[in-house]
Amino acid sequence: MPALLEARDLWKSYDGVDYVLRDVHLSLGAGEGLVVWGRNGSGKTTLLNLLGGLDWPDRGEIFLRGRDVAGLTPRERAAVRLHEIGFVFQEHNLLEELTVRQNVQLPLRLRRAHTMEARGEELLARFSLEALADRRPPTLSVGERQKVAVARALANEPDLFLADEPTASLDEETAPDLLDLFEGLRAEGRTVILASHDPLSRALPWPVRRLQGGRLRSEGEGEE
Ligand SMILES: Nc1ncnc2c1ncn2[C@@H]1O[C@H](COP(=O)(O)OP(=O)(O)OP(=O)(O)O)[C@@H](O)[C@H]1O
Ligand SMILES: [Mg+2]
Repeated sequence: MPALLEARDLWKSYDGVDYVLRDVHLSLGAGEGLVVWGRNGSGKTTLLNLLGGLDWPDRGEIFLRGRDVAGLTPRERAAVRLHEIGFVFQEHNLLEELTVRQNVQLPLRLRRAHTMEARGEELLARFSLEALADRRPPTLSVGERQKVAVARALANEPDLFLADEPTASLDEETAPDLLDLFEGLRAEGRTVILASHDPLSRALPWPVRRLQGGRLRSEGEGEE
């Protein structure tokens, strides 16, 4: 069976000169988690954007269930993102003109799921967001927005879940709960990648790989 997600020889530069990612390889099956660790500017967001089909490598290939994502048309790619990938952006990317409830329901609305309302309420309850359901994102605290972003990313029950610094704005009680939730998603058989420089994420029983000098190293390899 092919890996759920496989990246081969990814290279990415924004200016054609300096490479933010160099020769990155990774392969993850269903039910596997990975923490991508690295300093500010080490390329964590860049890598997640490539893996989530939001941006393109200069070189290299990305396969989702053995299918080359780069070979898809923009329409097919959008469908893959909607149906198969849950993405939590570092900056949340909530739609400001929609309420919390509508943001959480959005992926379901886009695929015209008849479960939209029931599933939306279930997610609001799971993240204790009921009291905020009719508010709009600009009126929320950063940590509250983070929870809405995670709830929204889960709406379509994606097989691949990518989260960029999801605990960065959360307090020490909320952050471990969220990490437990990610571990739960992994245990359900999903593939979960967490980009983080939060020491709390090291508590997850997952392999950690470090981005350094554009390369994705195994823990302990090539440390300064
Ligand atoms: N759109 C862009 N255009 C030009 N350079 C960019 C762009 N996006 C990122 N970079 C550069 O690429 C490098 C990696 O950025 P990236 O956002 O991937 O790092 P990061 O590890 O996510 O950092 P942080 O921990 O601060 O979120 C940085 O030097 C950044 O300035
Ligand atoms: Mg980042």
